[in-house]
Amino acid sequence: MKLTRLAALAVTGTLLIGGLAACSSTPAASGGAATGAQGECNVGISMPTRTLERWINDGEGLQTKLKGDGCTVDLQYADNKTDQQISQIQNQIAGGAKILVIAAIDGSSLGPVLAEAKKQNITVIAYDRLINGTGDVDYYATFDNYKVGKLQGEFIAKQLGLADGKGPFNLEPFAGSPDDNNAKFFFSGAWDVLLPYVTSGKLVVPSGKSPSSDADWASIGIQGWASDKAQAEMDNRLSSFYTSGQKVNVVLSPNDSLAIGIIASLKSAGYTPGSAYPVLTGQDADKANVQAILNGEQSMTVWKDTRALGDRVQKMIASIVAGQQVEVNDTKTYDNGVKVVPSYLLDPEVVTKDTVQSMLIDSGFLKASDVGQ
Ligand code: BGC
Repeated sequence: MKLTRLAALAVTGTLLIGGLAACSSTPAASGGAATGAQGECNVGISMPTRTLERWINDGEGLQTKLKGDGCTVDLQYADNKTDQQISQIQNQIAGGAKILVIAAIDGSSLGPVLAEAKKQNITVIAYDRLINGTGDVDYYATFDNYKVGKLQGEFIAKQLGLADGKGPFNLEPFAGSPDDNNAKFFFSGAWDVLLPYVTSGKLVVPSGKSPSSDADWASIGIQGWASDKAQAEMDNRLSSFYTSGQKVNVVLSPNDSLAIGIIASLKSAGYTPGSAYPVLTGQDADKANVQAILNGEQSMTVWKDTRALGDRVQKMIASIVAGQQVEVNDTKTYDNGVKVVPSYLLDPEVVTKDTVQSMLIDSGFLKASDVGQ
């Protein structure tokens, strides 16, 4: 029964992917023969932290889907501590997991524990964040991380009218955690849009914290994606570089947790929503940030429907268990230093005040009451 249900899902998944791939710009490809885990659906899920809403939704959502398929599931959260994540994965290997789904805290420190997994013939799926420097990761399921940043950069350019020659505007850019492989993709996507305007003088960065190229992004990275660190950094920039009545017009924030800290800093420096309030980006559609969007304290968020990512991983797992090929749609972008990891990329989308209802609430991602409505 268990296997029949999973096999059916694998088949439906394949057909559906075929349909979607036909209308996608990225050609579909298949990720080689399924490895390892055929036959038994015993899954260890390793998530980074419970402090961010998105990971709670990701972990619990995926666990529910897999249990519905009759899988045995062990879900662990690692408090944003790499050592804790490694020992939780070791326990999952010892406990008989056949498939590991891992959202890495530090994308480059899991090589040794994945080598242990490989010895047990376990299939490893990198979830949302790539795992670097190891051949022992089989698949990667994520959103198009470069596109997340591109959507943020394009939003800023449009809001400010940069393409029409408007400016100069004062910009403060931020980047994500230096140990998270996604952060450089987010930054590159945004900076490829914005850097030409910095170079032409239409965007000015009074703090000087303006990477001269995509590769310098980590110099403005906020460790652990921590809201309080982003707040302290923004406090410093405002108090040191905005001393003679200048105003910040735009803040590039790569995600919602940083945006929360930046909003708090802006508030304490006397900024109130209205015409002199900066354009501020984000990512994740966390409840507090969606409220901030409705209140005018944040301009947009890039929404990644974590339910769709869960569905994708559920399909991957069904294929692995059924011994079928796992469908992917990108076999070029995610080189982890040892191999190009076969990936499935989903599409992120911009949400603004005008589309909170139609995109987030009508789709059931959030309840109106979650966001003070
Ligand atoms: C995820 C983002 C998230 C960030 C902080 C990134 O790897 O892709 O959605 O905001 O981590 O947890």
